[in-house]
Amino acid sequence: MEDKGMERFIPVYEPDLSGNELRYVTDCVQTSWISSIGEYVGRFEQEFARFCDARYGIATSNGTTALHLALVTLGIGAGDEVIVPTLTFIATTNAVTYTGARPVLVDSEPQTWNLDPARLEESITPRTKAIIPVHVYGHPVDMDPVLEVARHYGLYVIEDAAEAHGAEYKGRKVGALGDIGCFSFYGNKIITTGEGGMLVSDDAQLAERAAALRDHAMSPEKRYWHFDVGYNYRLTNLQAAVGVAQMERIHELIAVKRRNAHYYNDLLREVRGITLPPEASWAKNVYWMYSILVEDSSGVGRDELAAHLKERGIDSRPFFHPLHTMPPYRQDISLPVAESLARKGLNLPSSAILQERDIERIVGAIKELVTPVY
Ligand SMILES: Cc1ncc(COP(=O)(O)O)c(C=O)c1O
Repeated sequence: MEDKGMERFIPVYEPDLSGNELRYVTDCVQTSWISSIGEYVGRFEQEFARFCDARYGIATSNGTTALHLALVTLGIGAGDEVIVPTLTFIATTNAVTYTGARPVLVDSEPQTWNLDPARLEESITPRTKAIIPVHVYGHPVDMDPVLEVARHYGLYVIEDAAEAHGAEYKGRKVGALGDIGCFSFYGNKIITTGEGGMLVSDDAQLAERAAALRDHAMSPEKRYWHFDVGYNYRLTNLQAAVGVAQMERIHELIAVKRRNAHYYNDLLREVRGITLPPEASWAKNVYWMYSILVEDSSGVGRDELAAHLKERGIDSRPFFHPLHTMPPYRQDISLPVAESLARKGLNLPSSAILQERDIERIVGAIKELVTPVY
């Protein structure tokens, strides 16, 4: 019988590195291909691009550099404006700011918790160059209206898919729906390389330009000839080796995460005042995070519930603070849907290595505070 005092601490996320990760990293060390030249980088780029149904993949040092590289590849810079949801991780707007452009923040919509396509047109000015829809917590953005507005106003679309590897919009994988898609492979992401990122695109010219800018804009034909001010945003072969091993199991990892989310849903459905994560009829949510809303009708505050879970050895994370409420991007505006989501939202443990009994323990701890509906 399990001793209650000995129950393991359940973190919000733990990577699953139980495949060929160690073998491939060892191969890099033994062959001394540890830097950014080496066979795993190209393999990882090809395999991940194919997984996204995109033609090209350009691996980067992390998801933030992928976003920055996407923006500079599209020529976005000082004086430009880029539309971004206010409810996202700060990396999305920081990447815009690095270019000298200004992020323009829009509210979320209640159905998917993502950028509200109905709020786009009112945010467009003559300076607007691009929209960055972010597939927050693994649920795809309603992309058709976003793409339609972008086409109508001649704007680029950069998908921030850092949290949504394998999520689908009307049967199509996210990442290759706009001009460029950006992913993160940080340790808590659906697949990881420790730190890492990737741009995917169907456009050969954009892919070529991004690959060059990633490497100090060195001419592919003439060594040490630099056609622009580029960057060192390269991924190492060591990291790509982990990525290739993760790619061997990406379908399985996503399937397990979806199964875990459904199990959480089954157990939480009867709990008063807990809103379950969305999955629109046109969407495949990959539940990077299993996210709930702790409604006022639960009789419990979100932070109170998080503190109670912590006492029971279970970690959780509040939703992001809306960007317009934080010092670098503060504005005296009201974006009420995002503000309400941020106040109520809680991410529960979401790793693919969670067992059913872990989920039962987590939901059991929630039910100690929040009464079931009968
Ligand atoms: C929505 C979003 N965009 C961008 C990033 C940046 O990725 P990274 O941490 O790899 O730089 C992250 C995650 O960390 C993210 O969640």
